[in-house]
This record gives sequence, C-alpha cells and structure tokens, in this order.
Amino acid sequence: MKAQSEDSETIEHSIYPSVPTVYGPSTVRGLKKGEQKLWCTCGLSKKQPWCDGSHIGTPFKPLKWTVPKDQSIHAICSCKYTKSPPYCDGTHVNLPEEVIRRKTNCCRTHCSSKKLCSSCGWIPDF
Ligand code: FES
Ligand SMILES: [Zn+2]
Repeated sequence: MKAQSEDSETIEHSIYPSVPTVYGPSTVRGLKKGEQKLWCTCGLSKKQPWCDGSHIGTPFKPLKWTVPKDQSIHAICSCKYTKSPPYCDGTHVNLPEEVIRRKTNCCRTHCSSKKLCSSCGWIPDF
C-alpha cells in the first residue's frame, strides 16, 4: 500500500511504507467475528501487523478492519505492500529486490529526524 502525501507542494509523489524486518505475513490466531483491528500501513509499528501509533508524523494512517468471520488462523500482511489489505497476497515474495533497488537508487539525503524517506521508504536508526 502506498500513501499519498497530504502536502503536495513538498512531496509530489506517493511515499512508500517501510518494510518491517520480516518480509512475510504474520500468523494471527483466535480473531473473533466483529472484532475491530487497526492494521499498520506505515510499517513502523513495533506490534506488527497492528498499529502502535508509530505512523504519527507520517502521511500514513492505520486501516480499520472488522474481522469478517470467526477463523482460527489468519495470514495478515506485515510487509505493507499487499494489494488486498490486511491479508497477505504473496506480494512480499518479490519485494526484497524491489526495495533494495529503490533504496540504492534513492537520490534523497536521508535525515535522521524523518521517520520515512518519501522516495524509498528508508527509516533511520533511532
Ligand atoms: S506479507 Fe505482505 S503480501 Fe505477504
Ligand atoms: Zn531514500
């Protein structure tokens, strides 16, 4: 998932979510029908795949998701690039190469006060 910047004067393109350390889905058990969850879209949450508020200061907002049915196990996307959030759709398989290429080709200067590079999705060490 990409987020559109709210400030189109300074950032004219989409920004990319960070990819958490794991390129793959989170296995979530025991969700009940009707339960409300906030799926992390920025990739910065430490409570993957759910939001922990880390998106604050970025253009990302968590996705509100209501569990549609009782199911003992869910594969929830943790790479943040799925096309059918919050479910894993297999996009993560080809993602490492794409992310590495984007970071290698990034023309921005990375500033440690920023959470996400608007061009490559890079995150600084805090
Ligand atoms: S973990 Fe994101 S598509 Fe599989
Ligand atoms: Zn960058």
